[in-house]
Amino acid sequence: MQVEDWYWQDLEKVGSTNDAAAMLCAAPPAAKFVVSAACQTAGRGRRGRSWQSLAGNLFMSLALPEAAANLNHLPFVLSLALLESIKDLAPDLEVGLKWPNDVLVRGAKISGILLEKTANAYIIAGIGVNIAAAPQGKDFADYPVISLADCNVVTDRLAFLRLYLQRLNADLERLNFLGFEDTRRRWLENACAKGEKIKVNLERRTIEGVFAGIAEDGALVLQQEHESRLVYAGDVFIKRNEENG
Ligand code: BTN
Repeated sequence: MQVEDWYWQDLEKVGSTNDAAAMLCAAPPAAKFVVSAACQTAGRGRRGRSWQSLAGNLFMSLALPEAAANLNHLPFVLSLALLESIKDLAPDLEVGLKWPNDVLVRGAKISGILLEKTANAYIIAGIGVNIAAAPQGKDFADYPVISLADCNVVTDRLAFLRLYLQRLNADLERLNFLGFEDTRRRWLENACAKGEKIKVNLERRTIEGVFAGIAEDGALVLQQEHESRLVYAGDVFIKRNEENG
């Protein structure tokens, strides 16, 4: 099947759509393609976490040749297109972006993006969007999560997938023609906690500072008392309310 000039496979049930897409990369069915699934039984999140995959939510993985996009810039264009798609459906909803690629609605996480590289020069961008339901349980005690249904936004996983790919195509084209500066500016216009105090959980410790921007290579710029520091991997918490991991 074809959707918005992407080759597309929609599967009934998979372990992880990232794995299903990576398997296809051995003999790519098209230069860029997307794999989605109605049911995902072993969804993966960032930093070794699992991704609770509830019925009715969107689980999809986009596969792009490495040459088609700069891996440092991809998280920003992917999350910006998610935010734009949500705003298309609900222009008045409070939606914002949190480094590196989370979308927050009313301050709560509604989606996640997991980028992986394959052995044969493909990038897999796994995207989960809480369309119908947000996960619950003690794992979410630290930060709130939300779904579009919680906000009375009526859509379904396939309608959202189509809308998203339209937005993403346009944003990837802008990135190619105008360079990262344009994407960075638009991302920062929608960023949560600009100029505010944040806490960043690194692999082994936590650091704090003011969220001062995004560097050319996609690093988070953290202004500390005596220095400005670049962060390449971590979980950001906005100190305003100590929420949103
Ligand atoms: C995060 O931790 O925020 C990233 C979550 C990414 C989840 C998506 S769901 C579709 C794709 N398949 C996976 O196993 N993970 C990603």
